[in-house]
Amino acid sequence: MPREIQILDSAHSVAEAGALHFIRICNASIKANGKFSVVLSGGSTPKGMLSLLATDEYKKQVPWDKCHFFWGDERSVPPTHADSNFKMATDALLSHIPAVPSQIHRMEAEKADINQAAQDYQNKIAAFFNTPSSGHPPQFDLLYLGMGPDGHTASLFPGTTALTEKNKWVVPNFVPKFNTNRMTLTYEIINHAKNVIFLVAGKDKVAALKEVLQGKPALETYPSQGINPIHGSLLWLLDADASSGLS
Ligand code: 6PG
Repeated sequence: MPREIQILDSAHSVAEAGALHFIRICNASIKANGKFSVVLSGGSTPKGMLSLLATDEYKKQVPWDKCHFFWGDERSVPPTHADSNFKMATDALLSHIPAVPSQIHRMEAEKADINQAAQDYQNKIAAFFNTPSSGHPPQFDLLYLGMGPDGHTASLFPGTTALTEKNKWVVPNFVPKFNTNRMTLTYEIINHAKNVIFLVAGKDKVAALKEVLQGKPALETYPSQGINPIHGSLLWLLDADASSGLS
């Protein structure tokens, strides 16, 4: 599928565009299937979008009772910890909307047995989509991603084992630069999503973004290069700062 790149003037415009796509894809999915599955990302740029969705103007345009929230990655901390992606999404959006616990599908990456926790999350996804928990991955309606200054996305970090995973949809991933485990969705399931949207803002992304979008193939170094939906759409929402190195 072709990718689309949109360059916007500021991080706020990136958040706004991201939120408008949420409203559009959410309403279209509910019209087609009666429900909407969305994968949220950690990071400051995605957080801006979630906060906007929590404002009255945006909030009233979404049938929240039909939305189901999943995560693309999680840090190995409890859900109340300041570093938790779940906490970020809860503070920015989920605590402001009428969603019940059965709509919120958290990654339990704080568990001592993170291998089992990753398998449990895969099973949870399979149960939601009513599909076997091995084999062909299901299709999320919408999946948001951020990109780090090193080119990582979700918790697919340069040189880590999750980059070569060909079967599992969810894995623990040891990240040497932080000396910690993360839990992350893999390329296998991310690339099956119907709509993938990157939200990228800030000057610190210039060098990596140029390599990801216009450099030679180097997935081990720039993991965001591996995001190429098989049947779905790929949209990069960039601010002027992040895109200033693109030709
Ligand atoms: C995380 C992420 C990560 C993030 C990027 C971009 O948990 O850290 O999911 O992939 O989205 O690092 O983050 P910023 O928008 O803050 O630069």
